[in-house]
Formats: sequence, C-alpha cells, structure tokens
Amino acid sequence: MIDGATISQELRAGADRTLDEVLRLAVRQIHADGEKYDWVGIYLLKGDHLVLHNYIGEPTDLARIPVGSGVCGTAIAEDRDINVPDVQAIDNYLACSIETQSEIVVLIKDGERTLGQIDIDSDTRAAFDDRDLAELRKVAAALGEVLGPKLRHHE
Ligand code: SME
Repeated sequence: MIDGATISQELRAGADRTLDEVLRLAVRQIHADGEKYDWVGIYLLKGDHLVLHNYIGEPTDLARIPVGSGVCGTAIAEDRDINVPDVQAIDNYLACSIETQSEIVVLIKDGERTLGQIDIDSDTRAAFDDRDLAELRKVAAALGEVLGPKLRHHE
C-alpha cells in the first residue's frame, strides 16, 4: 500500500524541481509502493485533451485522450475520481493493455482548477479500495499544490 503522506511530503519538499522531475518522482514512488499498480501514469489537461506525461508500465498508444472519452476523459468531464473494479463491465473503457482488469483515476487540482490526473491500471480485478483512493488523493493534493505554479508558467 502506498503511503500518501510520505510521498506528498517528498513532493512538497522539492518544489524547486522542474515539472518533469516532479511528475517522474510521483510516478516512481506510486509505482514502487503499490503492489498491484501495474501501470502508473500522469496525464495533464491541455485544452480539451489529456496529454500523457510520465508513466511506468507497458508502452501505450493512448498519449492523448479527448475530454469525455474513456475512464480518463470521463473523470475530467464529470469532475470526479473514478474507481473501476472491472474494466470489462463498462462501455466507454479505452484499453491500454489487454491484461488490465481494473483502473483508478484521481484528479489533480489546484484549487478549483483541474490540472490533470493520476491514472493507474492493475492486472488484478478490483485492485483498488477506499484506502488506495484516500492515499492517492493525498498525493494528488500535493501534486496540485506543487504543479499549479509551474503549469501557470507553461501557459
Ligand atoms: N483506460 C483509460 C485509458 C488510459 S490507459 O489506461 C493508460 C481510459 O479508459 O480512459
């Protein structure tokens, strides 16, 4: 199980890192501690698309996802975190790997502004529970704080 507070502390401590360094660190830490986290990535919102930045896991063609598409795009369109215990049971799932059984998406926000999301796929069915969600929300909160000012620079 990941320790969201420790990862958040580490992210906040290095606020002078570049955007890419922050994303890489976050993805690495989440992947290292999440036993069932087979694919971990961070998508950032750019206009009406999600753009994949850093990730660990099998390469994917889904580097750009329109808002409203798939689990990732739906989370943005509906402004909510989404936990899918069985990806085969939903119609709008975009397959990244045929091995994937379950997926969780947690939004990254800077106040009201949505910056992107943490996306995790697991080859285990129903891999994510409320503890995963709670720990990932801590990491997402730290990412929102640290990335907010950096992304304002990028615009
Ligand atoms: N499954 C996601 C697509 C991204 S991959 O999981 C990396 C979706 O349905 O939006």
